[in-house]
Amino acid sequence: MVRVVHTIAELHKILSPLWRKGDPVGFVPTMGALHDGHVSLMKQAKADGNALVVASVFVNPLQFGSGEDYDEYPRDLNGDVKVARDAHADVVFAPSVAEMYPRGFLTYVDQDKLTDKLCGAHRPGHFRGVLTVVLKLFNVVRPAHAYFGQKDYQQAVVIQRMATDLNLDVKLHVMPIIREPDGLAMSSRNVYLGSKHRQEALVLHQALSRANELVAAGERNARKLAGEIRKIIGQSKSAKVDYISVVHPETLEDLNDISGKSVIAVAARFGKTRLIDNVIVE
Ligand code: PAJ
Repeated sequence: MVRVVHTIAELHKILSPLWRKGDPVGFVPTMGALHDGHVSLMKQAKADGNALVVASVFVNPLQFGSGEDYDEYPRDLNGDVKVARDAHADVVFAPSVAEMYPRGFLTYVDQDKLTDKLCGAHRPGHFRGVLTVVLKLFNVVRPAHAYFGQKDYQQAVVIQRMATDLNLDVKLHVMPIIREPDGLAMSSRNVYLGSKHRQEALVLHQALSRANELVAAGERNARKLAGEIRKIIGQSKSAKVDYISVVHPETLEDLNDISGKSVIAVAARFGKTRLIDNVIVE
């Protein structure tokens, strides 16, 4: 059984006995349109023995830039509740915009450096919106454990940085990327892709897999790897690359050479749909 609540007050009624006893709450923040990537996070939260698993479903207006897809973003709370129930989440928290940002709201979380890179360079203000809503959600849910996907690699890094910098008492868990059978990383935005772009979008995973193979075979040069990735993505007529970057796993600084754990991250647009993917290489 999953309980669906829309207000912070209702949520607190459910959670306050657990907080008092010190029972761990597991938390999976989402924007809904739930898929198997989200499900994997909820299942992990359950498997880790949290006393209660809360999934939030909130399309956060603060993290969408003007001209981005806030209005079109897929919304299906009834469908999401079924998915969350089947994943054994205990509570779905689905607040309204007014509940999260009541009139008079003026306070935001800003972070230097990390948020200027990768997606941050292409989506000004995006991570300010993400960090602000995630801090609010952490304060509302007070989780002992929170679950994020490697799919949004930079997001996981900036949230971990915030948790460390602001002494948040929550342990973050970053779980592997869940893919469609043909390799496309699952994303709520995949529903925007028409059949042509859906097919062409496979180049992202193909390019990253190839790069991963090259690294395994001894290639260390970031520029060569990026060149190989660009070539494979270029096999899609529609793909417009935002970035292809080989970066340090924590600082997200560009690397010239792969000498330890590194992340290869890509973002590209297929028509109006912007997709991201990444691979961690050693
Ligand atoms: P959303 O895109 O709904 O993603 C919610 C969580 O699911 C994120 O941690 C994301 O990394 C993870 N996720 C998405 N696709 C995944 C996949 N294919 N495999 C594994 N995990 C996947 O990310 C957000 O929402 C928002 O920015 C949020 C953190 C909720 C703040 O609004």
